[in-house]
Amino acid sequence: MAQNPAFKISDFDRYFSRGTDKVCYISEKFPGKLLKISPLAKANQMIREIQYFEYLTTKGISPSFMPKFFGRCSDKENIGFVQELLVGNNIKSLIDIVRRYYLTDLAKVEDALMALKNEMLEKNIIVLDLHGANIIGDIETLKLWIIDGYGTPEFIPLPKYFRFFGRMKIERQWKKFVYRYSLLVTGLSREHGVWMPSKIASGPIEPKERHRPR
Ligand SMILES: Nc1ncnc2c1ncn2[C@@H]1O[C@H](COP(=O)(O)OP(=O)(O)O)[C@@H](O)[C@H]1O
Ligand SMILES: [Mg+2]
Repeated sequence: MAQNPAFKISDFDRYFSRGTDKVCYISEKFPGKLLKISPLAKANQMIREIQYFEYLTTKGISPSFMPKFFGRCSDKENIGFVQELLVGNNIKSLIDIVRRYYLTDLAKVEDALMALKNEMLEKNIIVLDLHGANIIGDIETLKLWIIDGYGTPEFIPLPKYFRFFGRMKIERQWKKFVYRYSLLVTGLSREHGVWMPSKIASGPIEPKERHRPR
């Protein structure tokens, strides 16, 4: 898919945030939009993600948890894409959301997470690297978005095209998420001195289990 000519990297002149791979910028010219870029020399993950967004766009698949995709853009040094900017006083990372609800209403957060997983399965959406910083949400309504990790790295990406392989991949990625989520709630249970019942976490994780291969 071609570049979106409406966007120039140089227009996005205000730094917004960074993660492990990408740097994000905003622009007064484009309210509600976020540019994410990676240097061309380290762009494998970025290219995989762009191709996946373009694939979903072509197929008309738009999961409710996916920020809107507005197209790719690049210059001599960077490649990236523009997506819906999710901001507001209520928008927090899953880590903050779980922290807020841990003692009172963890089940509500977990219902929202299960709905996310069900939609991934239903629409065969592959997301790698699911963890508390790559899921954000509205801390009041508990509407959640997955903001990072879309796509699949296989040379022949069977999970992308065949639901059978897609389901296996989604379940494997979910298992990894459950482990990370269990670490998160284990931390909170220590902080508060109480283990809250959980429909998702695999139980408190003992220190000796923390480095188990996944
Ligand atoms: N659509 C978005 N709206 C608001 N903030 C976002 C959005 N996407 C990413 N962010 C913020 O930018 C950070 C880095 O983005 P991310 O896509 O996770 O990059 P990386 O691949 O480097 O981890 C996120 O942790 C989050 O705080
Ligand atoms: Mg990230």
